[in-house]
Amino acid sequence: MQVQWYPGHMTKAKRMMLEDIKLIDLVIELLDARVPISSRNPDIDEIAKGKSRLVLLNKSDLADPEKNNEWLDYFKDKGIIALFVDSRNRNGFSPVGKSIEEACRTKIERDRKRGIINRPVRAMVVGIPNVGKSTFINSMCKKASAKTGNKPGVTKGKQWINLNKNVELLDTPGILWPRFDNEETGVHLAFIGSINDEIVDEVDLAMELIIFLIKSYSGVLFKRYEINEDNDTAVILNDIALKRGCLKKGNEPDYSKAANILLDDFRSGRLGRITLEDPV
Ligand code: G4P
Repeated sequence: MQVQWYPGHMTKAKRMMLEDIKLIDLVIELLDARVPISSRNPDIDEIAKGKSRLVLLNKSDLADPEKNNEWLDYFKDKGIIALFVDSRNRNGFSPVGKSIEEACRTKIERDRKRGIINRPVRAMVVGIPNVGKSTFINSMCKKASAKTGNKPGVTKGKQWINLNKNVELLDTPGILWPRFDNEETGVHLAFIGSINDEIVDEVDLAMELIIFLIKSYSGVLFKRYEINEDNDTAVILNDIALKRGCLKKGNEPDYSKAANILLDDFRSGRLGRITLEDPV
């Protein structure tokens, strides 16, 4: 299944980010904990060149807890400062401040040597569409949410948000990149809802998800829909349609409706905590 999505507004957004990066000390990259590889935009390396980096694996509440531990080791081995967070419930937030400091240690030291003390760290929050950037920023700033005015040099309309006296955040639009280098990346991004649903065939996508679940999380579909997992993929989708009463006129199964139910159940965690990718 081929999925590619790079609308014009993302090219524009990337251009704006390349402008704004000049004022930035730290890039906070939000990844989706269920797809830590596919949600990593390779263009961010180019945008964030020479800047301090922090990775936050968001939606950790939807990801497999065992796999979360494996992924933590993976990032640690690579020398990348990474934390798991659940922005919706504000879980995992307490070490964020310390990690920002750790990631910016060199900059803070350099400032101190130049006699600049307590200049706030300016951080750009980046990530693919739907990864939870707004939720993260809103949850982080819940206590002292204060939007400051535009700063010179920052694209008009951009807002700085004071996280606290030490950190200012700059939100950015969700961007993808022009070509996914393998089929799996596009499919995984579509599973988690980061690709516009209108350009993806929901039935094909649901079939791909069924194949993955049978292979890696057997029992999950049976538990949710009481269907026989030994059947072929198309029969399983048909059974989900029947179990959920997805019928068209003339009592034909409505595969599109069943596919959307399955995708929605996966995305919202109703199938359980599932991670699609393993560290390599
Ligand atoms: P974006 O700015 O990166 O595009 O993402 P946004 O914050 O709008 O979040 C996209 C969806 O992901 C929202 O759900 C949001 O609630 C959900 N979300 C964000 N962070 C987390 C998290 O850590 N865990 C879980 N489980 N969900 C998270 P929505 O259904 O589109 O909106 P809503 O019904 O929550 O308002």
